[in-house]
Amino acid sequence: MNTVVIGLQWGDEGKGKIVTYLSRYYDCVVRYCGGSNAGHTVDYGDFKIVHHLIPSADGRFKKNMYIGVGVVIDLDVLLRELEQLNNLFPESSTLLRVCKQSHLVLPFYRELDGRIDAARNEPVGTTRRGIGLCYANRALRFGLRLEDFEDDQTVKERLRELAKLWNLELSIETVLEHLREAYERISHLLIDNVEAFENLKNKNLLFEGTQGVLLDVDVGTYPFVTSTNCSSSGVQSGFGYPIKIDKVIGVTKAYTTRVGEGPFPTELKGEEGERIRKLGGEYGATTGRPRRCGWLDFVLLRYAVKVSGCDELIVTKADILKNFEKIAVCVAYEVDGIKVHELKNLKDIHRVKPVYEEMEGWKDINSRAFTKFLKKMEQEVGVRISYVSTGSKVDEIIAL
Ligand code: IMO
Ligand code: MG
Repeated sequence: MNTVVIGLQWGDEGKGKIVTYLSRYYDCVVRYCGGSNAGHTVDYGDFKIVHHLIPSADGRFKKNMYIGVGVVIDLDVLLRELEQLNNLFPESSTLLRVCKQSHLVLPFYRELDGRIDAARNEPVGTTRRGIGLCYANRALRFGLRLEDFEDDQTVKERLRELAKLWNLELSIETVLEHLREAYERISHLLIDNVEAFENLKNKNLLFEGTQGVLLDVDVGTYPFVTSTNCSSSGVQSGFGYPIKIDKVIGVTKAYTTRVGEGPFPTELKGEEGERIRKLGGEYGATTGRPRRCGWLDFVLLRYAVKVSGCDELIVTKADILKNFEKIAVCVAYEVDGIKVHELKNLKDIHRVKPVYEEMEGWKDINSRAFTKFLKKMEQEVGVRISYVSTGSKVDEIIAL
C-alpha cells in the first residue's frame, strides 16, 4: 500500500508529525519534492526535531528513508540533519538513501534567491533557501547533480558556467573544495532511481509531501507559490519511477496560516490573528517568520481536496482553538456581489470576500461543539476525517 501525505493549505499543516506517526505502518518514508524550504517539526516529548530534508520517519521504529530525485539538496543542511539524527537515533540514521540524480542547492543560491525575489514588483517572500533558483537551473540544464561529483572537472565546468550565467564572482576552487568535502561525507548513501525502485517496489511506501496544495507551482496561488508540484501530482516524477498511489491523505489545520506573501481571504489581521499565532506557536520552522493566521476556509479546502485527489483528511491543531468562545469558518465567497461555493481555479482569489458562519468554540475535543465542527468539515468538504491531532507530540493523535 502506497500513501502520500500532503498539506491542503499553504504549508505548515503538521505534515511532519503526521508522517512520523503514520511511518510505523510503512516500510519506507520517501521525500519527493522541495528542499530545505520545508520545515517539519516533530515533538517526541523529551526533544523536538526539525526536518528540512531527511524524511520524517519515526526514529524509534528504524524505518527506511529515501530522498527522491525531485528533491533539491543543500549539502550543509543535509549534513547537519544527519548528525542530529545520528545523535538521537544512531541505527535509523544508517537507513537513509539519497538519489544520486538529485540536484544540488549551491551555497551561493541563497543570496541570489533573495536578489531575484527583490527584483519583483511584488515579492513572493521566499524562504531564501535557493530552492526556486535550483529548480530553474535544473530546467535550464545548468544544474549540478550529486552524481556529477564522480568527476571534479564536470563540477568545475558547471560552476564556471553558472558564474557566467548569473554574473557572479566565484572562487571555483573554494566552492569545489567545500562541496567535495561535504559530498564525500554522504556519498555512501547514494543510489540511483532504478536501484531505489528495485529496492522499494514491493514495500509499503509513505510519501511525505512538503509545502501544500495552495503552494503548488501549477495548481496553487501562482505566482505566490513554491517551485514544484508539491501536491500529490509530484510523486511520480519526484520518486523517479512510476508508482501506484493507493491513498492520498490531506492534512489541514483547524484554522489557516500562511508564511510569505500572496492572497489569503480569511486572514485575521487584528487581535484574533495574533491570538491564534501566539497560542499555536505560529512562527516559521525554517525562517522564524511570524505566520499570517486566519479562519478555516472551506472554499479553498474543497478546491485543494479536488485538485489533489485527496481521499482522507487529518485535522491538526484543533486544540489551539479550544480557548475560543466562538470561531468562524468560511463557507463561501462573494465575488462581484455574487455568492459562490466553489472556485474553478484560483485566478480571482485576491478579490473574493469570505462569507463566514459562526460556530461554537470547544473546551475539549470530547465536547459536542468539537464533534459538530468535525461533522461540518466532512459535510463541507465531502471527505472523511480519519485522524485528529490533539497536541504537538507524535502520539497525541486519535483515530476516528
Ligand atoms: P513546509 O513543508 C510554508 C513558501 C514561502 C514563500 C513561497 C516560496 O514546512 O510546509 P520558496 O522558498 O519555496 O521559493 O518560497 O513558499 N514556503 C512555505 N510555506 N511551509 C513550507 O514548507 C514552505 N516552503 C515554502 O514562504 O511564500
Ligand atoms: Mg513547516
